[in-house]
Amino acid sequence: MRKSVIALLFAAVLSAQSIEYSAGRKTWLLKTASNAYALGVNQRGELQNLYWGGPLWRFDDIHAAQAGPEWSSFDPSQSQTNEEFLGWGGTRYLEPSVKITRANGVRDLVLHYVSHKIDGNQLDIVMKDINDDIFVTLNYLVYPAEGMIRKQAKLENRSGQPLTVESLQSGVWYLPHGEGYRLSYLTGRWAAETQLTREDIHTGEKVIESRKGHTSHNANPWFAIDQDGAANEESGRVWFGALGWSGNWRITVEQTPYSQVRVTGGWNTFDFSYTVKPGESLETPPFYGGYSNHGFGEASRMLHRFERTQILPGGGKARLRPVLYNSWEATEFAVDEPGQKALAEKAAKLGVELFVMDDGWFGKRNTDHAGLGDWTVNPQKFPRGLTPLIEAVRSLGMQFGLWVEPEMVNPDSDLYRAHPDWAMHFPGRPRSELRTQLVLNMARDDVKEHIFSVLDKLASDYPIKYFKWDMNRPFAEPGWDGAPDQKELWVKYVRNTWEIFDRLRAKHPGLEIESCSGGGGRVDLGILKRVDEVWTSDNTEAFDRLRIQEGFSQAYAPKIMSAWVTDVPNMNGRSTPLKFRFLVAMQGALGIGSNLNKFSEADVQLATQMVAYYKKIRGTVQEGKLYRLVSPRIGDVTANQYVSEDGAQSVLFAFLHSQQYRKPAPAIRLAGLDPKAVYRIQVLGQNDWRTFSGAYLMNEGVTVRLAGDYDSTSVLIEKAAN
Ligand code: DGJ
Repeated sequence: MRKSVIALLFAAVLSAQSIEYSAGRKTWLLKTASNAYALGVNQRGELQNLYWGGPLWRFDDIHAAQAGPEWSSFDPSQSQTNEEFLGWGGTRYLEPSVKITRANGVRDLVLHYVSHKIDGNQLDIVMKDINDDIFVTLNYLVYPAEGMIRKQAKLENRSGQPLTVESLQSGVWYLPHGEGYRLSYLTGRWAAETQLTREDIHTGEKVIESRKGHTSHNANPWFAIDQDGAANEESGRVWFGALGWSGNWRITVEQTPYSQVRVTGGWNTFDFSYTVKPGESLETPPFYGGYSNHGFGEASRMLHRFERTQILPGGGKARLRPVLYNSWEATEFAVDEPGQKALAEKAAKLGVELFVMDDGWFGKRNTDHAGLGDWTVNPQKFPRGLTPLIEAVRSLGMQFGLWVEPEMVNPDSDLYRAHPDWAMHFPGRPRSELRTQLVLNMARDDVKEHIFSVLDKLASDYPIKYFKWDMNRPFAEPGWDGAPDQKELWVKYVRNTWEIFDRLRAKHPGLEIESCSGGGGRVDLGILKRVDEVWTSDNTEAFDRLRIQEGFSQAYAPKIMSAWVTDVPNMNGRSTPLKFRFLVAMQGALGIGSNLNKFSEADVQLATQMVAYYKKIRGTVQEGKLYRLVSPRIGDVTANQYVSEDGAQSVLFAFLHSQQYRKPAPAIRLAGLDPKAVYRIQVLGQNDWRTFSGAYLMNEGVTVRLAGDYDSTSVLIEKAAN
């Protein structure tokens, strides 16, 4: 009964208008199945945020916008008014949404409401400076089923003089007035990306950002906020958001002296400057936001579903990710035709579906000191070109993928010798190398066209299904010989790079792309519109991966989380059993990166069984609902459960990693099941099935028999026929 009422309400929300407007109160209400958002125009003509939280059914509950009080000359009204998009002007001292300088030096910008337009799930609100013809249009796109709202801003210069934009943010999110909020965010470094970090929000600003030119390993453009530490995985109010930008970004979490928390996000203002001439406009990347009444777990599931249906190429119809083999950890740069063929034969026997040859196949690429930029097949390693290898891979029933790093150049390369000016640099200054490579200035259209033609030729000459697109260093000396507006490089670089992804996909419709930047250095909702999966981390050590994957899954779908089984000891010298490594990697898009030439018969047998098991459950893992049951940050055990969208299949993964002598693993209470339904469950490696009600499995749980560090198990759970 309860379920059908919820279903009816859900259907009602979806069929009703997602955007309503009250002309009398100059208020807009944006509605989704799981939350609502409201804004209005106050008595001064400023656009003001009014609500962000749980679903509302009564428009009348939203009070009309009212400018805040002026307490003293030091506490002006504009510091206590939740302006939806704040021009830097008048008595505004909060983090601005837009800051400009006119050619005549005047910097004051005060935006007032002009007009609006509702078109289906989109709302455009036009604001204008009180004097000049400088317009800002705020665009809102509501995703009613997914519970998400997209914000974007466009500045138009219809005044007679050029403007220098020093900040143009994508949007601002306001939390309900009050204090005691807690911020969750993702930090890290190379080989230790997406570490979940939580801290209380206090008065002042907390900035998470990238100044490195790419999205970066050090922080990821996602946030989640709860209040009084009250949310956990499955309960409590959580406000969250993520930016779609693959370059310098910034999220500023600010608590004002007046107990108001606001989150501003968009292009990083660091070294930012963009000239908008008369008649021109500048549009920001998107800032997505959502709200959940059901904890961090539900917030993540909302994002996962949103990414699968609205962001990733294919819009929900994309195929399940194939089991992939990647040669990097097995061979590094020592790739050649016989070696790759031998690995391919072994991979195919395990059930691998996509064989990817990594770095080393081109130019003079024998180490990382040379070759980047010269995208022609190395004749010593592949005297007959790539075709014989690709044919062999395809005749083994696998698709072929190829590693590229198009944005980079080694000084020891023909490309650099021909075009030293194409590398990012400041004239007369040293060019800082990292991994003996320089970054090509992708903001230049000639560089962009060259890179497009290189990749287009590869995709045209060979039946390549998949590019692993790498980027192995951040920017340095972001200069641009001769360009008048040097700082625009930060933005134009990303736009031109994205354009190449888009053009390649349009011209080669079956082509898939992986985003890699030395691991997870380029993962964001902008690149995800253009790629099918991402390389989560260069750290493939399975225990470390549990934490990396926990953090990754806060914001990003398991479907895109590429995870390989590799050899041990790895990275930090730890040796985990092969089964443990497989079960860790199976929680995303499974890949294998081991040197298969070293696999024993027993390894081959176990790997074959594991790949077969993964294929049985991958629909649930990749496109189901993830419940993070026990966190690797907390105790001896990590447990994650996935439930298929239709509820018919579920799978549990459990890992023991720091057991004290004879301390039994706890019973693991499952989630996301129907308490009234009966389920049959089977432990991986055992033949018998046992049946339990959903109620029992969620209240009492499953006792997993794990003994000793790095023991692991998986349990298959299937809804029994009624
Ligand atoms: C960094 C990537 O993350 C690795 O997987 C591998 O592709 C190397 N680059 C190759 O240079």
